[in-house]
Amino acid sequence: MSRILVIYYSHSGNTREIAKQIQSAIGGDIFEIKPIKPYPAEYQETTEQAQREINAGFQPEIEGRVENMEDYDTLFIGSPCWWSTIAPPVATFLSAHDLTGKTIIPFMTHEGSGLGHSASEMAKLAPNAAVKTGRAFHGSDVKSAKENIEKWLKDW
Ligand SMILES: Cc1cc2nc3c(=O)[nH]c(=O)nc-3n(C[C@H](O)[C@H](O)[C@H](O)COP(=O)(O)O)c2cc1C
Repeated sequence: MSRILVIYYSHSGNTREIAKQIQSAIGGDIFEIKPIKPYPAEYQETTEQAQREINAGFQPEIEGRVENMEDYDTLFIGSPCWWSTIAPPVATFLSAHDLTGKTIIPFMTHEGSGLGHSASEMAKLAPNAAVKTGRAFHGSDVKSAKENIEKWLKDW
């Protein structure tokens, strides 16, 4: 019986790739966070919008929610690293659910910042969950991350 849920937001596909590999290594269910209004496809535009939103603490509306959260106790929560933290739709997700008693394992894809301060941001938004150390994957390595992921999760 699996009590694991892999939750992720991905703008350009890297974090989705890691989320799928985590699910195939450890099992469980998967939930994709989708903002109602997608971010622009253009990189520069997205970075500017994201910076404004993060500075303002803005949480964009997202599609749907996890109605059966009581079925899970371990949540892998993934985001692209945006300005050294989680993307705003992930902040919305955390605020929209009561994650009391859950174990959260952050994962992130990035181009150099690693996890940044995403774990502390997650802990702020899910104050009654236990947020573990988590893992960061370089964006250019996601296709070949399978072995690292399996090693990481072997003893989980
Ligand atoms: C809005 C925005 C901000 C970003 N900020 C950072 C950053 O602060 N540090 C970093 O290492 N990479 C940053 N990146 C690069 C992304 O984290 C990286 O490309 C990531 O793998 C994208 O994941 P995705 O394909 O799942 O959207 C940023 C990208 C975008 C679009």
